[in-house]
Amino acid sequence: MEKVGFIFDLDGVIVDTAKYHYLAWRKLANELGFEFTHEQNELFKGVSRKRCLEILLDIGGIEATQAQFDTWMVEKNVDYLAYIEKMDASEILPDVPRVLEYLKNKNVPIALGSASKNAKPILEKVGLLHYFDSIVDGNNVTKAKPDPEVFLIAADNLGVGSQSCVVFEDAVAGIQAANAASMVSIGIGDSDILNEAKHNFKDFTEMDNQFLELLLNKNK
Ligand code: G6P
Ligand code: MG
Repeated sequence: MEKVGFIFDLDGVIVDTAKYHYLAWRKLANELGFEFTHEQNELFKGVSRKRCLEILLDIGGIEATQAQFDTWMVEKNVDYLAYIEKMDASEILPDVPRVLEYLKNKNVPIALGSASKNAKPILEKVGLLHYFDSIVDGNNVTKAKPDPEVFLIAADNLGVGSQSCVVFEDAVAGIQAANAASMVSIGIGDSDILNEAKHNFKDFTEMDNQFLELLLNKNK
């Protein structure tokens, strides 16, 4: 019987960095002369930095040269890095350490599957890096979620078949990617938005150890 592998998205699942992405994108939008709202920021969840900028420029009705596009990509990330610079363990989302600790004690393989190119330094800052047997992030993929590539690479790194993997995700594109990889998708957040997920939880405080046991034993 094959072991079950667990794959976590980062932003919005482990840490609440969406607010910092938002502030950095809003600053750029304001500099370019338009507003960027919290509602519009929803479209950016799970979406690569490049695609986010394309959407932002669409919202502002701005045509950019390649040089401008590249400059703004860098500018947004410099601002984002300034926001996350001071991050510490207090910004870990509720009960994430409890779940990671529970799984680690059961000796199951754990991976990160994120679109972010800043994933590793963030995990280091909040002190959770040691839980992960594999980190697959925006530096390792060529196709963005909802393409399943990021999760398939993670499963491969863990040495677990995709059907034996469980994915925790807060983005619609991420749930679609997990489903496309034939993995068990677990939505963390608004169940109306994440209605394509196999299971839904508002956050990890709602996920008890009994449910984790069900997942651990899913191949039995
Ligand atoms: C995550 C976030 C997105 C972000 C993407 C890229 O998926 O949910 O909002 O755009 O990562 O992040 P990065 O840190 O590489 O700019
Ligand atoms: Mg996310």
